[in-house]
Amino acid sequence: MHGMSRAIRITGGHPLAGTVVVGGAKNAVLKHMAAAILADGESVIRRVPRIADVDVMAEVLRRLGARVRFEGDVMRVDSATLDSFEAPYDLVSAMRASILVLGPLVARFGKARVAMPGGCNIGSRKIDLHLKGLQQLGAEITSEHGYIQASAPRGLSGAHIFLDFPSVGATENLLMAAVQAHGTTTIENAAREPEIQDLVAFLRAMGAAIEGAGTSTLVIEGVEELRPAEHTVIGDRIEAGTMLVAGALAAKRLAVEGADPTHLELVLNKLAEAGVEVQVDGRRMVVASPGRFRPVDVATLPYPGFPTDMQPQFMAMLSLADGDSVITENVFESRFMFADELRRMGADITIEGHRAIVRGVERLSGAPVMAPDLRGGAALVLAGLAAEGETLVAGTYHIERGYEDLVGKLRSVGAAVEWVDLAEGGSGVDA
Ligand code: EPZ
Repeated sequence: MHGMSRAIRITGGHPLAGTVVVGGAKNAVLKHMAAAILADGESVIRRVPRIADVDVMAEVLRRLGARVRFEGDVMRVDSATLDSFEAPYDLVSAMRASILVLGPLVARFGKARVAMPGGCNIGSRKIDLHLKGLQQLGAEITSEHGYIQASAPRGLSGAHIFLDFPSVGATENLLMAAVQAHGTTTIENAAREPEIQDLVAFLRAMGAAIEGAGTSTLVIEGVEELRPAEHTVIGDRIEAGTMLVAGALAAKRLAVEGADPTHLELVLNKLAEAGVEVQVDGRRMVVASPGRFRPVDVATLPYPGFPTDMQPQFMAMLSLADGDSVITENVFESRFMFADELRRMGADITIEGHRAIVRGVERLSGAPVMAPDLRGGAALVLAGLAAEGETLVAGTYHIERGYEDLVGKLRSVGAAVEWVDLAEGGSGVDA
């Protein structure tokens, strides 16, 4: 982290042209790191984005006693030396995905002590489905002093689990717990995100027996032993989607490479409905700004529905549409904080519970704003690309959690975007 807090300054109106290449998926690699706990030895994970969340997960693994080394975008995780089973509060509160060490620790060592993750700016982020599923697999779960204790001294036993909600994290934790359980586990109503399919690919490379990746029913045959494996992370579909919206807002012609377009089908359809044509040529997506947008209604849903992680970026774009759009956030209970900041730039948005009415305006004007969370922060940068004048986005540590070099990538295609050190006491942006 930086001694001084940093902001991102954007000057709108500079057309984007050229090619950006997105990195490995944040929401896949964090799980591969947790999965490496399962195999006694060194796994190699390639195409690792160098983002703050990866650093936190590396610290979690090191606190457990594993060795984690980076050589560029290649990470080596050796869990042979693992000798602790606790994920401490300071790390879990820094990144709630740390709770995904719970399943692997119980699977391999029969015990784990993980701090309860707090909520965050987009919702309460409960983990009841993780814990209920682990209990069905035979783990004994207790919680005290803000920590969850899980133990299964005689190992876990296969079970038939039916998730109330296709939770991404619950599906992943239970998948990683079940791979070494005695017998067969079925997870119904499982999440189907591409990142889960990628986790299944890595686990199978380690020797796990899993069927049904990408469907709502996962069937896992427990195996005795998993061995270290090598894996290349899939491209980050949300980073790609973010760049496509940047292109929709400000590009003469922007090519986005590195992600699988089939992972963005509904996003591409919604962009087309809004008047933004994206040419797909293999794994290359090319976008140009249409200048104005048609209003479209968007409802976020678990994959393959419209991704909630693309909701703020779409709200920024639709704030400049020719008419009213309705955005419904069905996955998180309070993922509209970003709208308050966008209003400061002139957007006309009314929030009614899970629904945001976005009335299109002619233009946005640059303003000092504060990133409320990761995707909201990125969306404010995108809004700044199209706004008149200068936008200063503070709270950029949120953005650095999940985007590798967002400023550098946008600058490389012509955006007027730069890092600015905020003098202590915060100049230019009210706290
Ligand atoms: C993952 O979070 C992603 N994070 C999120 O991305 C993403 O928004 C989310 O999936 C949905 O796609 C990572 O992969 C690290 P969930 P996760 O469990 O696993 C409720 C980003 O910007 N729920 O599917 O926490 C929960 O409260 C981040 O990259 C329960 O009620 O998502 C939430 O409302 C943000 N009980 C909803 O389900 C549970 O036991 C979705 O949560 C678990 C979840």
